[in-house]
Amino acid sequence: MSRRPLVAGNWKMNPASAEEAVALARDVAARVAGLSPLTVLCPPTIWLAAVAEAVTGQQVRIGAQTTAAEESGAYTGETSPLMLRGLAEFAIIGHSERRRLYGETDDDVRDKVASAVAHGIRPIAAVGERLAERHAGRTAEVVERQTRAAIGRLQRIAGTGLVMAYEPVWAIGTGEAATDADAQEASARIRAILAELDPTGAEEVPILYGGSVTADNAGRFFAQPDVDGALVGGASLQAVGFAAIVAAAARVSTR
Ligand code: 13P
Repeated sequence: MSRRPLVAGNWKMNPASAEEAVALARDVAARVAGLSPLTVLCPPTIWLAAVAEAVTGQQVRIGAQTTAAEESGAYTGETSPLMLRGLAEFAIIGHSERRRLYGETDDDVRDKVASAVAHGIRPIAAVGERLAERHAGRTAEVVERQTRAAIGRLQRIAGTGLVMAYEPVWAIGTGEAATDADAQEASARIRAILAELDPTGAEEVPILYGGSVTADNAGRFFAQPDVDGALVGGASLQAVGFAAIVAAAARVSTR
């Protein structure tokens, strides 16, 4: 694998206090020190500053869990990419929970990805089919549509810092991960869509698998040629298990 593996922890709405967030970040940073994959922690927005400060000078990077597309204005509750700059190097965009619970659309994802890139924030754009769509045989169509939308305002891929994540909705938080073959197929499909816009740039994009990734199953995803890492939810809240996932990515990258 020529692309550097990337393992991101999406803490979602956890933990409950700044102290716990800082302690978790420090614990992870200590455990992944010296490992080759890029390790990204995505705490809740309110803990971004404390976590960023806690890991200053360490190899752990910071990401936000979402971003607005706009820079400022009457957007109650939102945080803009301008505000995230200097605090977060990455931002997850279009997570299925944002789509399902907060009504984010493909067009929102398109605008947010473009805005993040314009502000020097690397988007981690998440795509993936729901269970009903999978049962209806629409997985490929959904992944393609969401991927096309995510890059809809980019002129090229190279230089954008884009990261993609394939997260089948039915695998998130269920303990029922996709198969490695499913993850590979979707990732190859995503890369092919990116290549329609920018064949060289598409080869640089880390494509992550997300959905019930654990230290036990991570290795089989990382062994796939188009899977370059993981976007980890629940298992990212335990430093030991999360660091073991990063170590599994390191093993594959040094094969
Ligand atoms: P789980 O790892 O808890 O299934 O969550 C995956 C996810 O949503 C990461 O963004």
